[in-house]
Amino acid sequence: MTQKKLFYIETFGCQMNDRDSEIMAQLLTKASYQSTKDIDTADAIIVNTCSIRGKAEQKAYSLLGALRRRKKDNPALIIAATGCVAQQEGQKMLTRMPHVDLVIGPKQIYQLPELFERALSQPQGIVSIDKPKSFHIPPYLPSLNQGLPYKRFVTIMQGCNNFCTYCIVPYTRGREISRDVKDILAEVRYLAQGGVKEITLLGQNVNSYGNDQTIDQRTNFSSLLRQVAQIKGIKRLRFTTSNPKDLSDELMQCFADIEFLCPHFHLPVQSGSNSVLKKMNRKYTRESYLEKVDKLRLYRPDIALTTDIIVGFPGETDADFAETMELLERVRYHGAFSFKYSSRPPAKSCEFEETVSEDEKAKRLSILQKRQQEITLERNNEYVGSEMELMVEGESRAADGQWAGRSGSNHTVNFMSLEKFVPGQLVRVVITEGCQNSLRGKLVE
Ligand code: SAH
Ligand code: SF4
Ligand code: F3S
Repeated sequence: MTQKKLFYIETFGCQMNDRDSEIMAQLLTKASYQSTKDIDTADAIIVNTCSIRGKAEQKAYSLLGALRRRKKDNPALIIAATGCVAQQEGQKMLTRMPHVDLVIGPKQIYQLPELFERALSQPQGIVSIDKPKSFHIPPYLPSLNQGLPYKRFVTIMQGCNNFCTYCIVPYTRGREISRDVKDILAEVRYLAQGGVKEITLLGQNVNSYGNDQTIDQRTNFSSLLRQVAQIKGIKRLRFTTSNPKDLSDELMQCFADIEFLCPHFHLPVQSGSNSVLKKMNRKYTRESYLEKVDKLRLYRPDIALTTDIIVGFPGETDADFAETMELLERVRYHGAFSFKYSSRPPAKSCEFEETVSEDEKAKRLSILQKRQQEITLERNNEYVGSEMELMVEGESRAADGQWAGRSGSNHTVNFMSLEKFVPGQLVRVVITEGCQNSLRGKLVE
């Protein structure tokens, strides 16, 4: 028997890239490669890159750069760059990193095994980043042997049409393309039959799902959610991400009606200042955002809210930043991801004059993160005494008899028990303590 060649994938960025890495692993496995967790033994290395901020791009380049030596010592090694930096840079990446064999865009990953074959006979490298005019996301059934056996992501759309002025995604992932409802439902059914209990529907802006389909064939996001929730075996449903401008009453109603829809909503606000939101082209105001938050809480009082915030956008004044801080107090998010603004050509804001220094950005970020940490801890303590259903994730490494589970609100909850549980099993706990990054609970007998 010939020994199988080994591949290693390093994934940066969002769940889109995670899902693409899964697909690539599956394709290579079918093409008689085998996965390895040890980069040093790999015959092929794929770096799945993210371009969202300058730092993410640097990380990808520094890993690729570090592979130069490996390629010199072993010319048969295949090095492939995929993902958003690959799409954005194309030939430039090969020029800068001539030891890279393949530069592949997100829409070309389905040809990976063929491209690997071709790479062996083309030492000058191959760039495959064309954006096909009509692209149909293949009805790709995931492998049940990869990833977690109880919870999985299902891509429902790719790309983004919003062109927020700071954001590179519409340039790297292209325009919005929704997958066919039947393909999505088939994928969820397949996963459910294989034992998966929790599904997260994935897209850059899931609320505009279906907008690119013809009117007679259109299914909107709320109706898709309702259909997925009916699939036998699915116990939990989540989605990410949503642009607040597209959050409809119909979707809020889903939180009241669909038992399996988890009470967590990631609703990126980016800034609390109307003038900054306008320059960001977010198409909502602070007021309309807050109105939606209030309404969402009417539909689902126990909903946990999380957000993304950018500090130091060009033109952000002290007063603008104070408005963001005020919004934080008003919403009291359960958690927030916050970032220093990073200029990402060709995203439009790269032409705006940067008025906030790196020092000032760092200062604002630290003020914001410190306050948010306090709010998160306060929020976590509000759960003390309440009962929650958890999906068991596994035994905790911290102590014997300690288990970790995830609540519908998306909190990690640790609890002690000498019983054995299977990951994916649902248990009930009463919360006894709120910590900074997790909760502690006690099993309800
Ligand atoms: N589609 C998602 C965002 C995906 S990117 C949405 O619209 O909510 C994840 C987060 O990265 C964004 O919400 C934003 O906060 C941050 N981000 C995007 N571009 C950025 C940039 N140029 N500089 C700093 N942060 C950025
Ligand atoms: Fe980027 Fe805006 Fe699209 Fe989100 S909605 S991916 S921030 S352009
Ligand atoms: Fe990064 Fe591309 Fe995702 S830029 S955040 S990997 S869509």
